Amino acid sequence: MNSELRLIYPAAEHLSSYDEAVKEYEEHNIRTYNFSDSREYDIFDKFEQYRSGRDLPPNRVKASYFWLVEANGFIGEIVIRHSLNEALLKRGGNIGYGIRYSQWDRGYGTMILKMVLPEAKAIGLDKVLITCDDDNIGSSKVIEKNGGILENKIIADAYGTTILTRRYWIDLNPHVATLLVRPRIARQ
Ligand SMILES: CC(C)(COP(=O)(O)OP(=O)(O)OC[C@H]1O[C@@H](n2cnc3c(N)ncnc32)[C@H](O)[C@@H]1OP(=O)(O)O)[C@@H](O)C(=O)NCCC(=O)NCCS
Repeated sequence: MNSELRLIYPAAEHLSSYDEAVKEYEEHNIRTYNFSDSREYDIFDKFEQYRSGRDLPPNRVKASYFWLVEANGFIGEIVIRHSLNEALLKRGGNIGYGIRYSQWDRGYGTMILKMVLPEAKAIGLDKVLITCDDDNIGSSKVIEKNGGILENKIIADAYGTTILTRRYWIDLNPHVATLLVRPRIARQ
């Protein structure tokens, strides 16, 4: 894995490779994570709106977006939702992520979650809920490799139908030590 791998706040210098990632998901009909679409709106305005929590649409909660990047640009996105509402408790949880299709199965999914957990702790969370489709083997492994404990599987609404959904919790207390030695991410 590339030593220049960094978790950063979304930055305009990586927008073109981010847009390529959006197209890859469209081409392969990936629906398990929704990237933001810069053809439709200013995605950086959206990220700032969610970070501040101001004027959010109904049933949306404050959230922080991060990008995993390396020398050649965007690799993946991860979002921390600062709180859980009734819908997120069933499906969605505190953390969602997507790795660029062309970069799957290289360890980046496991890495992006590992790198963001100290940020979730810094936001003030002690544990995070992460959910995934029951048949999303890659995501289940990513969560379990980061200490996720399966609470249950429930039937939840998704994609206009219902789907068996795994609900995992990760205890963030072991991640405090990481936070103490790790520099905070600089806003770009
Ligand atoms: C799920 C996702 C983040 C995994 O990212 P990734 O970079 O491929 O993950 P990793 O390379 O760290 O793989 C973790 C493990 O899962 C396995 N894996 C990854 N994709 C897999 C797949 N489609 N089927 C089976 N196993 C898979 C890897 O081989 C690895 O196994 P190992 O620990 O035994 O070596 C990525 O596939 C993705 O972005 N999917 C679309 C969005 C999504 O589903 N997000 C999660 C929503 S809950």
